Amino acid sequence: MLGIGISRASFTGVALAMLATTGFAYAKDATMSHIQKAQFGHTPDGKAVEIYTLTNKGGLEARVMTYGATLVSLKAPDRSGHLADIVLGFDSLEPYVTGVPYYGATIGRYANRIANGRFTLDGVSYQLPKNDGPNSLHGGDKGFDKRVWTAQSVEAKNGPELKLTYVSADGEEGYPGQLTIHVTYQLRNDNALSIEYQATTTKPTPVNFTNHSYFNLSGDFNRDILHDVLMINADKFTPVNATLIPTGELRPVAGTPFDFRKPTVIGARINDDNEQLHYAHGYDDNWVLVKTHPNAMSTAAVLSDPETGRVVEVRTTEPGIQFYTGNFQDGKPAGKGSVYKYRTGLTLETQHFPDSPNQPSFPSTILRSGHPFVSHTEFIFRTEK
Ligand code: GLA
Repeated sequence: MLGIGISRASFTGVALAMLATTGFAYAKDATMSHIQKAQFGHTPDGKAVEIYTLTNKGGLEARVMTYGATLVSLKAPDRSGHLADIVLGFDSLEPYVTGVPYYGATIGRYANRIANGRFTLDGVSYQLPKNDGPNSLHGGDKGFDKRVWTAQSVEAKNGPELKLTYVSADGEEGYPGQLTIHVTYQLRNDNALSIEYQATTTKPTPVNFTNHSYFNLSGDFNRDILHDVLMINADKFTPVNATLIPTGELRPVAGTPFDFRKPTVIGARINDDNEQLHYAHGYDDNWVLVKTHPNAMSTAAVLSDPETGRVVEVRTTEPGIQFYTGNFQDGKPAGKGSVYKYRTGLTLETQHFPDSPNQPSFPSTILRSGHPFVSHTEFIFRTEK
């Protein structure tokens, strides 16, 4: 265990010897992989919220708070080594508590939409809150993004790690079974942010977890994301109806604005006359990832910003990814010194397909007791010329 508020170095005997002889430069180096804890505020009902700063040996820094197990900031270098925050978020707790756009949050019990907030499991029907038109979105009125989690920092050789836990009561937001979920963030020394989800339940329940970070690789939150270049490793996607519920079809991307098999500028086709783009006012769809076997860890997407050279590769064990271009961002509320206008961030939400509990042909999202759930996603950062 890492001490609370104490930086813990991981360095070799050689580095130690050099530290003894060369002083500050190596002392600085030696403290580069560590975790620090601080207070971030209180929820309206008086619960303390903490924020943990994870720093890896390369100087990448991720801040994660216990409210919503939320990634608040993530600093990564550009091609000249300049670090900048590349995820949208806020400097204080209040906007996270009062706003609803899920910035950086862990989403559950069911990420994305369930049609009419209703599903039937083992012959019993369940009604969930309808918080998105006729549908239930991102776990209901008070999903995992609006809960205070407990956190434990973990010593790990390959980078600082933070394990967050939440116990969701049987019946919470209409879902059956007491669900215990652990989300572990690790900022690996090879410049990857790894997010692992583990869960167990006391009764069968649908589960679907994701992280809802809005990326803007430029680090300049006054710029939109339309000039960034995206590859999605998918040859099909799940088209939706007007309320953004999948129709059940797995539609080939070939010949559509949804074909990102080759790296493509995001803004190139976003305003095409296309029913799916009209429904969501831009991209907001689930792509069916190419997999060698269903739970294989494989590349889902690669996003790059030509101006700064920053690149992020997303790898996951999940079968799908929701690519959303911030179509509902409206400039409110403001964060980190910027106003988040239309399309200043994009999400790459690894997930099972939306509305799976009502779609028998989609991979199952039903978790049963005695069968622990595990899912893993990693965001790998690098630069290109
Ligand atoms: C997901 C959904 C979007 C939207 C955002 C949150 O990405 O697919 O439709 O609800 O979350 O604003």
